[in-house]
Amino acid sequence: MGSLIFITALLLSMSSAVYSCLPSDRAALMALRAVLHEPHHLGIFNSWNGTDCCHNWFGVSCDPTTRRVADINLRGESEDPIYEKAHRTGFMTGYISPSICRLNRLSSIIIADWKGISGPIPPCITNLPFLRILDLIGNKISGEIPADIGRLSRLTVLNVADNNITGTIPRSITNLSSLMHLDLRNNQLSGTIPRNFGKLRMLSRALLSRNRLTGSIPVSVSYIYRLADLDLSFNQISGPIPENIGKMAVLSTLNLDGNRISGTIPPTLIASSITILNLSRNAFEGTIPDGFGPRSYFTAMDFSYNRLTGPIPKSITSATYIGHLDLSHNHLCGHIPVGSPFDHLEASSFVYNDCLCGKPLKAC
Ligand SMILES: *[C@@H]1O[C@H](CO)[C@@H](O)[C@H](O)[C@H]1NC(C)=O
Ligand SMILES: *[C@@H]1O[C@H](CO)[C@@H](O)[C@H](O)[C@H]1NC(C)=O
Ligand SMILES: *[C@@H]1O[C@H](CO)[C@@H](O)[C@H](O)[C@H]1NC(C)=O
Ligand SMILES: *[C@@H]1O[C@H](CO)[C@@H](O)[C@H](O)[C@H]1NC(C)=O
Repeated sequence: MGSLIFITALLLSMSSAVYSCLPSDRAALMALRAVLHEPHHLGIFNSWNGTDCCHNWFGVSCDPTTRRVADINLRGESEDPIYEKAHRTGFMTGYISPSICRLNRLSSIIIADWKGISGPIPPCITNLPFLRILDLIGNKISGEIPADIGRLSRLTVLNVADNNITGTIPRSITNLSSLMHLDLRNNQLSGTIPRNFGKLRMLSRALLSRNRLTGSIPVSVSYIYRLADLDLSFNQISGPIPENIGKMAVLSTLNLDGNRISGTIPPTLIASSITILNLSRNAFEGTIPDGFGPRSYFTAMDFSYNRLTGPIPKSITSATYIGHLDLSHNHLCGHIPVGSPFDHLEASSFVYNDCLCGKPLKAC
């Protein structure tokens, strides 16, 4: 009898443990919710109710073994039925409470596309040892990226694009040895790209466009073996393109448009793995390298608004493909080469040069 009472008591205590999450996790979530204001017609936070924050709390999920909160996934745009009344998009104001840092088993924080969430990234976020994903894209977050962000050794995704973040790219960022996806686009970051950026060996996308970055492209970038997409457009970057960028194994998009990059175009770039190459609106000079060949395959190649001189090299006709070409607004001169891949191009690809001639411009 005594043992039956004991077992019953044990089962009861187990079931109550199963049906509530750790009270401190729940309290941290309630504190997070308290300073975020969702649109009335959405009602996400109405589901944050009851003692079990691991069960049916919209955007919250827990590790099934530890029953600790592991993921916060709140997106302002979603196909989820809860968004139906709001036409699949929401606007949220408020800020991200530092109490989020008490959820010390968090693996991902996605609070994205709410347009109106302001305030800083809580600096204590760098105390979350298991954090893999930090995605705050599309809000109004201000302040700086925490200087010790490099402590997040498991971080694979850092996306704070489309916010109002100021300050510099922290030097410690190069310690994020697991980082695969870095998106800082459309903020107000200034200063230079860390010289040892190439330490980020796992990086496959580095998107830094539309900031106020200065200095030159670090030579070490070309050591990032997995880098497929490098976007530095619309900054104030100067100096030359490091020669070895054209030798990178899998680089396929290189957007450097709208900077102050000077020097000549490295010949390696035009017979590389790159398929989208935008060098528009810089200060490139010299001639277009005469090194096109079967490896040259461009869906888009834009050299417009530079100071390029000389002819369009004949070898360009040996490129396998050039979908979109823009050489306009330079100082090019001479015959436009004949044959594929030129047959489909229009005059706009060649206008505003010194003396280019031949199809599709006027005859020489
Ligand atoms: C919590 O859920 C219960 C049961 O679904 C409901 O009656 C109650 O109104 C909810 N409370 C809040 C604050 O949403
Ligand atoms: C962005 O931050 C700057 C400086 O803190 C501020 O002056 C500006 O109003 C902010 N812009 C927006 C859109 O919040
Ligand atoms: C990067 O990590 C190393 C080793 O943990 C540390 O000594 C160094 O100070 C860190 N660098 C930065 C800039 O934080
Ligand atoms: C290259 O960048 C410029 C902006 O500087 C943009 O207008 C143009 O469309 C881009 N070219 C391609 C092919 O995407």
